[in-house]
Amino acid sequence: MSTSPRNILVTSALPYANAPLHLGHMLEQAQTDIWVRFQRSRGHHCRYVCADDAHGTAIMLSADAANRTPEEHIAMIQAQHEQDSAGFLIHFDHYHSTHSPENKRWSETIFERLEAGGHIAVRDITQAFDPEKGLFLADRFIKGTCPKCKAPDQYGDNCEACGATYSPADLIDPVSALSGAAPVDQASSHLFFQLSNFETLLTDWINSGQLQSPIANKLKEWLEAGLQDWDISRDAPYFGFEIPGHPEKYFYVWLDAPIGYIASHEVLCREQGDDFDAYWLPGGDTELYHFIGKDIVNFHGLFWPAMLDAAELRQPTAVYAHGFLTVNGVKMSKSRGTFILADTYLEHLDPEYLRYYFAAKLSSGVDDIDLNLDDFVQRVNSDLIGKVVNIASRCAGFLRKKFDNQMSGNCGEPELVQSFIDAGDEIAELYEAREFNRAMREIIALADRANQYIDDKKPWVMAKDETLEDEVQAVCSVGINLFRVLATYLKPVLPKMAEKSEAFLRCSLDWTALDAPLVAHELAPFEPLLQRVDADVVAAMVEASKSGA
Ligand code: 2FM
Ligand code: ZN
Repeated sequence: MSTSPRNILVTSALPYANAPLHLGHMLEQAQTDIWVRFQRSRGHHCRYVCADDAHGTAIMLSADAANRTPEEHIAMIQAQHEQDSAGFLIHFDHYHSTHSPENKRWSETIFERLEAGGHIAVRDITQAFDPEKGLFLADRFIKGTCPKCKAPDQYGDNCEACGATYSPADLIDPVSALSGAAPVDQASSHLFFQLSNFETLLTDWINSGQLQSPIANKLKEWLEAGLQDWDISRDAPYFGFEIPGHPEKYFYVWLDAPIGYIASHEVLCREQGDDFDAYWLPGGDTELYHFIGKDIVNFHGLFWPAMLDAAELRQPTAVYAHGFLTVNGVKMSKSRGTFILADTYLEHLDPEYLRYYFAAKLSSGVDDIDLNLDDFVQRVNSDLIGKVVNIASRCAGFLRKKFDNQMSGNCGEPELVQSFIDAGDEIAELYEAREFNRAMREIIALADRANQYIDDKKPWVMAKDETLEDEVQAVCSVGINLFRVLATYLKPVLPKMAEKSEAFLRCSLDWTALDAPLVAHELAPFEPLLQRVDADVVAAMVEASKSGA
């Protein structure tokens, strides 16, 4: 057990407020939530904040297509997001929006500090402009014929047919994907954040040992290629915040998105009385972690530390990236029914199955995580139902029938129970290091040992002999004590099952409460803790994901 409680603030990436959450989002939120719940179980003060990422052209256009104002649109999507996350038992201490007064104020403050520090340059750039829509077009809003293989209808930056990458200016017969009009070149002045002013800071950060090595290597490559100025402004019309002192210019969505971490946390501090400055001013002993997908490490590994530094705010303690989610070995696909929305999953299956499966697969690395649906059914049924829950259900049966739910007056196998408690140190180290897959392996290996103990003792045979009554009670009590330790270790992953187990065991399942075994303790009547996963229901979910496509 570590000695003094740590003060930890954790975030996961802010989902865009223009589409529902899918299982890829849930992978990240589950990883973060498990880590946060683990920290709490260890007695640390750990907060988890997030928000919807509500700005940008894509959101403006999707609101328009849905015939809603952007404000109505993002409010509706945010409500769905919060409901889906709650459905997966993700516990945010606060969930906010980047389209909020707090985020506006922080974005303005940070920008003003960047500007005052001489880190903002203004210069004209020429971009494609849609004369019908009156909008500047990002590369992905321009389509045309691939200059290399001549495939028609390719997007502005790369060809899906031959894989070529190019600039939209190279496309043959380019058109706006929004209106079909031919784009015209138009100049406009933009504001740039001069990232190269932060080369020393970023070099130190990349060499700090706080980043996963593939991420540090990637950032090093960018650094060695030379840090480019970052365009942080967009022209009207744009759904976002206008830049102070620069009328008709808006902050690019990626400027105010990470600032949303600060805004969300500020509201939490206001509500809970936590000390905001202790988390955001430099020099304190609080910790700040960002959990993200590996596709957004440039924003979190370069721009964000530089912005924080320029704004005289603290640096993240670490940024933890994870890989992408694949389903049955390939990218999620609507036609295969493997582009599974969070709410489609929840209509069919228990969230704890997926939380466990993800935990059994997640490591501290950035490799992609595969949700193999056959393996999912097999693994959940075998590990959770066949091994963990089985310990409690088989022992509870005897204790209820013969002993009125009363456990033995002394622990029959104190050394065995103690060895389970002692294993907690290593399991805790694995959780801390985000090696959840190894933690799950350790826990399941302990479950195997517990089942082996019961199998060796054969209480069902002893139960036939009245002179062995005390023995039956002792063996089953040991089994319940072993289950209690395992359910404690699994609590960050399976909070609902832990809650049911707490009701059954009549004790709290916190790491810090694992000291002595339960003796002469009365249990509550046993209720089923988790049902088996049914492969047919998984198949129905895949079907539903096809039809929802
Ligand atoms: O990639 C995304 O989905 C972004 N909305 C993540 C933003 S994370 C943070 F920087 F706000
Ligand atoms: Zn091509």
